[in-house]
Amino acid sequence: MSGKIVRKAVIPAAGFGTRFLPFTKSVPKELIPLVDRPVLQYVVEEAAASGIEDILLVLSTEKEAVIRHFNPFPELENRLRERNKTTELAVLKKLDGMARIHYVYQQELNGLGDAIRYAESFAGNDPFAVLLGDTVMDSSNGVPVIGQLIDVFRRYGASVVALEEVPKERIHRYGVAGGTMLDGAVLKIRELVEKPAPEKAPSNLAVAARYVFEPEIFAALARTPRGKDNELQITDAMKFLLTERDFYGCRIAGRRYDIGNPMGFLQGTVEFGLKRPEFREEFKAFLVRTLQQMKD
Ligand code: G1P
Repeated sequence: MSGKIVRKAVIPAAGFGTRFLPFTKSVPKELIPLVDRPVLQYVVEEAAASGIEDILLVLSTEKEAVIRHFNPFPELENRLRERNKTTELAVLKKLDGMARIHYVYQQELNGLGDAIRYAESFAGNDPFAVLLGDTVMDSSNGVPVIGQLIDVFRRYGASVVALEEVPKERIHRYGVAGGTMLDGAVLKIRELVEKPAPEKAPSNLAVAARYVFEPEIFAALARTPRGKDNELQITDAMKFLLTERDFYGCRIAGRRYDIGNPMGFLQGTVEFGLKRPEFREEFKAFLVRTLQQMKD
């Protein structure tokens, strides 16, 4: 058991979003909406609902709109108040109380590992969560996905990474973990490979956009050479840690939507649209009708 509580999170959100061009030429991929909320807001809500109080967003200078999304907008609030638009006002106000948001700019886009290095002074001696800013997690057991990892961190007292099963033909897109299953959901990791060829993958368990790290990850990052795509890969730094420390994987209960790619966005839009009580029936009827017409 670890007595340490995870109160800090880092959200890397500096990438160009090339898989979603041309939209991402002018709008950060983290602001792509599912229904009416940007992806990044879902991610911040997941963190806040898991006990995170301080969030560091790692941005690039082109992503000013991300900062605007989380900053107060008094003029708009006043206008809504004057017109008694209490529902809309509540939607805006919800953004204020979620967590304290901090920002830092990544100078050059040198990979996920490089982005996480910017969090060193923010983390200090504390463990911290990492949530990729373009990926929404839909928990299936009532505990937000980063909360599931924090539970494993608490129980085993060491860094944890989210894992999900991925079909063999897609495994080359991910970091992949091998090891021993301790119970239904926790893997004691022995091996990690970033984007392996299918025949070199140690399992079908892919690293899935969420991590909880002890601050020792920064020393590991400092001695990690550039890897795949000449970028500093967080998976490579985790491999260093593995040689010295215990490291766990948490098979997540839930689904991952990578919104930075159009297919993830389309699937997420349908799933999250159907979850919203005010849209559910009409949207479902529309989908059924549309599918029926395709068959006809
Ligand atoms: C990153 C990580 C990879 C992980 C993936 C999904 O890759 O490097 O290990 O499996 O996110 O979380 P990217 O999608 O940025 O290429």
